[in-house]
Amino acid sequence: MCGIVGGVTNKDITALLLEGLNRLEYRGYDSSGLIVLSRNNTFERARSVGKVKNLEDNLKARDHKINGNIGIAHTRWATHGEPTINNAHPHISMNSVSLVHNGIIENYAELKNDQLTKGYSFSSETDTEVIAHEIDFAMKACSSLISSVQLAIKSFSGSYGLGIISSKYPNQIIAARNGSPLVIGIGKNGNYIASDQLALLSVTKKFIFLEDGDIAEIKIDKITIYDLDGNLVDRPIKISRLKLGETNLGDYDHFMQKEIFEQPQAIRDTLESRISNDTVLISAFGYEAHEAFNKAKQVQIVACGSSYNAGLVAKYWLEDIAKIPCNVEVASEYRYRRPILLNDTLFVTLSQSGETADTVEALKAAKKINSNITSLCITNSPESSLTRLSDLTFLTHAGPEIGVASTKAFTTQLVALALLTCSISSLKKSINKRQERGIIHGLKRLPGLVNEALLQEKQIENLAIRFKDKNSALFLGRGTMHAIAMEGALKLKEISYIHAEAYPAGELKHGPIALIDKNMPVIAIAPNDDLLVKLKSNLQEVKSRGSQMIVFEDENSKVQQMEAMEVIPVTSNLGRITAPIIFTIPLQLLSYHVALIKGTNVDKPRNLAKSVTVE
Ligand code: G6P
Repeated sequence: MCGIVGGVTNKDITALLLEGLNRLEYRGYDSSGLIVLSRNNTFERARSVGKVKNLEDNLKARDHKINGNIGIAHTRWATHGEPTINNAHPHISMNSVSLVHNGIIENYAELKNDQLTKGYSFSSETDTEVIAHEIDFAMKACSSLISSVQLAIKSFSGSYGLGIISSKYPNQIIAARNGSPLVIGIGKNGNYIASDQLALLSVTKKFIFLEDGDIAEIKIDKITIYDLDGNLVDRPIKISRLKLGETNLGDYDHFMQKEIFEQPQAIRDTLESRISNDTVLISAFGYEAHEAFNKAKQVQIVACGSSYNAGLVAKYWLEDIAKIPCNVEVASEYRYRRPILLNDTLFVTLSQSGETADTVEALKAAKKINSNITSLCITNSPESSLTRLSDLTFLTHAGPEIGVASTKAFTTQLVALALLTCSISSLKKSINKRQERGIIHGLKRLPGLVNEALLQEKQIENLAIRFKDKNSALFLGRGTMHAIAMEGALKLKEISYIHAEAYPAGELKHGPIALIDKNMPVIAIAPNDDLLVKLKSNLQEVKSRGSQMIVFEDENSKVQQMEAMEVIPVTSNLGRITAPIIFTIPLQLLSYHVALIKGTNVDKPRNLAKSVTVE
């Protein structure tokens, strides 16, 4: 999704703006731009469609270099208006105000009509330009840039993360946040803003995380923050644990590939300090988790994308093992329903970024419906909107995930959900000590099992060629493997642009079997579980319709190899908890290699964003 970077420094800011934009590219974008205040306090702007590289080339091609000490920059993911130069940020009003914006101003049409009557003209189709005009208009009545922003902001409904500069106040940036993440970086040579800490790691590790409603005045030697009511507020400075090197490719060709292979370590890190003496440390979910889990009579999970698929796996675990009712719903639906939310509900949000707008809003809606619920977020992002809004937090320690298609964030979410299941099960005595030990031993085996699964890469790579000219694929699984099949289908869609659907294998005969012919590859997951016999007969049904099949199995499942059917043993002796995590690996590898064959942009697939911070 859109990215913001900016700074007030005693050095030229342009190189840092470009570096920041490059680091933000992974979030998804279709155009980019930057603006600096030059020495004589005039705006100098450059904007390009496509990659940040195009903006760099645009800057290099100029006779006159763009440089200055104050600047803001943006990568845009189009919402209102196509990806064109005119729609790219920064936007300017009357040569006095320029800004970059993440989010959506919902009442922009109304504001635009009003501004047209005031003599403002528009050069873009965006909802952002009205913000610039509104601030410019407010400047006529105010004596500072910050008071102008405070006044203008009262007219906006919607969400925003803003970086604002003015030629009339050339020593400052104003940052404002409401629903779109924004941090202030405190550096040696100046102060900075960004929508994601990653953009600023080369200049600082010290960050202030703005809260919704905050407006900050950022000067080279001073940062002043006000809340929405105009009260001066003190926000703590936090030291980021992110390392710059973690965001580099190293020896890999793609971030997705790197992140697939990082999974053994990511799982190890997520488990570390969360288990002691074969028991899950419930305090890993927060100090009040013990009481909250004890009290919980049902679980409601809300998430989007891959995180939603992880939630679907957890439903099976929580109901089968912990014996607690569990519902799972996509956040974009949940937030607009009037769901029944009983007291004693543990409301769980799952989100890699902790910033997905629908998930954040679903949590806010849930709290309004029933303030007695306890909220838990499972996220990979400390200091995110979800961690701030939730009563309890569990951090997956996957490290930065740059590839848009989620891999290590998904499997570490499953690990977190397994720990949650184990905690609730043992508190509610739905499992005995021996069973708890069994689950914990399974979790400890995971890094080794993932490594074993990764060894199948060559074989999977050879199979990927079969998808070269295919338009569609079907993924089959039963129980938790249906959710994993959904994740496999999502991965294939996201990065290879092949239409893919996942079906519970038993449901095949009620419709999708009509689609099966030799052009429809079918990928099935066959763990050695109670449903194996049923799954084997489902596979026969598919086989007899002439499909080309790939079956990923537990070695002990012993699926009979047939013509036009590849059976790939992934590893052996998987249990209820370990199997869904391990069977995810071959599906990730398959979609990765299919995408390579198709020649798509693996890490930044078209139209997708890493973190969807708008509706
Ligand atoms: C986007 C990404 C997906 C991700 C989803 C939820 O759509 O492209 O990969 O699963 O958002 O993101 P979250 O950060 O909430 O897990």
